[in-house]
Amino acid sequence: MTQTKLNFETAPGHQILAAAGKKTLRPGGRVATEQLFQWANFQAGETVLELASSFGDSAIALAQRYNVRVVGIEKNPDSVVRACANVAAAGLSDQIQIIEGDIFHLDRLSEQFDYVLAEAILTMQSPIGKAKILTSIHDRLNRVESFFLTS
Ligand SMILES: C[S@@+](CC[C@H](N)C(=O)[O-])C[C@H]1O[C@@H](n2cnc3c(N)ncnc32)[C@H](O)[C@@H]1O
Repeated sequence: MTQTKLNFETAPGHQILAAAGKKTLRPGGRVATEQLFQWANFQAGETVLELASSFGDSAIALAQRYNVRVVGIEKNPDSVVRACANVAAAGLSDQIQIIEGDIFHLDRLSEQFDYVLAEAILTMQSPIGKAKILTSIHDRLNRVESFFLTS
C-alpha cells in the first residue's frame, strides 16, 4: 500500500484514521461488506459502480473474488492516487478503474452497471442529498433487477 504525507490540520477524518492504521472506515466494517457481497451473488463479468471508493479496498476485493469489473468514483484526489496505486499493486488495472469525480454528478458517466455499491457515504448525506443520489443511481443501473448495495 502506498503512503502520502498527511497534513493533520486539513486531512479528512477517514484519512487520519487510515494513517493511524484503521483499515475499514465504515459502519459494520468488513462484516457488513461481506453480507452485502453475499446478498449480491456477483457473477463473473458483471459490472459494479462503487460510490466513494476511497483507497479501493472494496473494489479490489470484488474484482479478486468475483472477477467482476469495477468503476470507482471518488472525490478526494489523494485517495484516487492511492487507490490507483493499490489497484496496480494488486495487478487489477484491467479490471478496476478509479475515477476522480462527484457522486452528485453520476450523470457524467455514460456507462450503465449491473450493481451500484455505496458504503459509508449515503448515510452521510442530507435527505435531499440521498434522494438526488438515489435518483441518479437508478439511471446508472442497466436492468430492473439490478442491485443497489449500501451500508
Ligand atoms: C467514510 S469514507 C467511506 C469510504 C469507503 N466507501 C469505505 O466504506 O471505506 C467516505 C469517502 O467518500 C468520499 N466522498 C465524500 N463525498 C464525496 C462525493 N460527493 N463524491 C465522491 N466521493 C465522495 C470521501 O473522499 C471518502 O473517501
